[in-house]
Amino acid sequence: MGNEQLTLSDLIDRQIRETGPMSIATYMGLALTHPREGYYTGADPLGAKGDFVTAPEISQMFGELIGFFIVNLWQQLDQPRSFTLLELGPGRGTLMQDALRVAAKAEGFLDACHLQLFETNPALKAQQAERLGQYNPYWASEIDAVADDPLIVVANEFFDALPIRQFVKAADGWHERQVGLRDGKRTFGLSPTPIPGDAMPEAVRNAADGETYEVSLATADALQRLGKRIAAQRGAILAIDYGYAATQTGETLQAIRRHSFADVLEAPGEIDLSAHVDFDALGRVAADLGLKVEPLATQRDFLARLGIVERASALARANPEQLDALAAALRRLTDSSEMGTLFKVFCASAGDVEPIGLA
Ligand SMILES: C[S@@+](CC[C@H](N)C(=O)[O-])C[C@H]1O[C@@H](n2cnc3c(N)ncnc32)[C@H](O)[C@@H]1O
Repeated sequence: MGNEQLTLSDLIDRQIRETGPMSIATYMGLALTHPREGYYTGADPLGAKGDFVTAPEISQMFGELIGFFIVNLWQQLDQPRSFTLLELGPGRGTLMQDALRVAAKAEGFLDACHLQLFETNPALKAQQAERLGQYNPYWASEIDAVADDPLIVVANEFFDALPIRQFVKAADGWHERQVGLRDGKRTFGLSPTPIPGDAMPEAVRNAADGETYEVSLATADALQRLGKRIAAQRGAILAIDYGYAATQTGETLQAIRRHSFADVLEAPGEIDLSAHVDFDALGRVAADLGLKVEPLATQRDFLARLGIVERASALARANPEQLDALAAALRRLTDSSEMGTLFKVFCASAGDVEPIGLA
């Protein structure tokens, strides 16, 4: 049977039968970005009818405030006449559309800005082209294929979609969790080969037996490649995502389908897989590259410092009929029981700048 007839489930099972159990990172990579059947290579997964809703899709205020943040940074960099604005995983292009509508008001900004987008999903690329076409975006095939001018990177809910590995503590060391087959059904198991504790970060070395540590090498690699550019060329990276402030143990790998939790192993390619971002690990990578790492902010505090309440009031004054919708959006973005504190804002920079909103 040729590959064309196999579903992604079949392909994964065949690979396991032929080469043995695979790491969770390999499984996630196939499930999310397999060129033909991956979750992020198929239909548009976002929005009320999709699997999840992201902050820029909740309200224009989110992207607008990020536009304000970007302009301020560009001004602090002494308004370079040429710079790259790179968005990782731009989704429908909504965040950047709202951001650039605000940023366009700063004289010289659009002339200086080279917009670059990094995206795997053809359906989303088409929407990005529609919303952002007027800014002549360029779609990069490599994350660090940018010019050698100052670089500003924005990533909202991108890093949570990158593959993670999981290690489980046992008496003889750490064992990698893998995806294998039992009675023809995909199941989790542990690699028999232990990894010594000193290969793990300090913060988890004293974990109790049975505890799980997650690490995303793909995230570290992406930040390293971009961080090197930022360190050499000046600029900053702003990453907003759900995650934890200090490296810790705990299992966060999750599957979402149509706004509900699903089985991680059940339907690769058809469900969203993600994991919480370890911001502590991001900070260590950035600091090692010589970047200035800002204190991690909650989304609630970041948006409040950038003036979301004032922006909501101004919009409500101009559109009184939208008062309830604006109040609901404000609550979803900032309330602790919604996205306000689960989502965190990470920023690392180079070039003697003080990014706003972080502290
Ligand atoms: C959760 S969505 C967030 C979309 C958008 N930033 C927003 O906030 O609405 C993740 C985005 O990253 C893209 N993506 C996921 N994995 C990727 C990868 N490995 N390389 C490039 N883009 C990826 C997805 O197609 C999508 O645009």
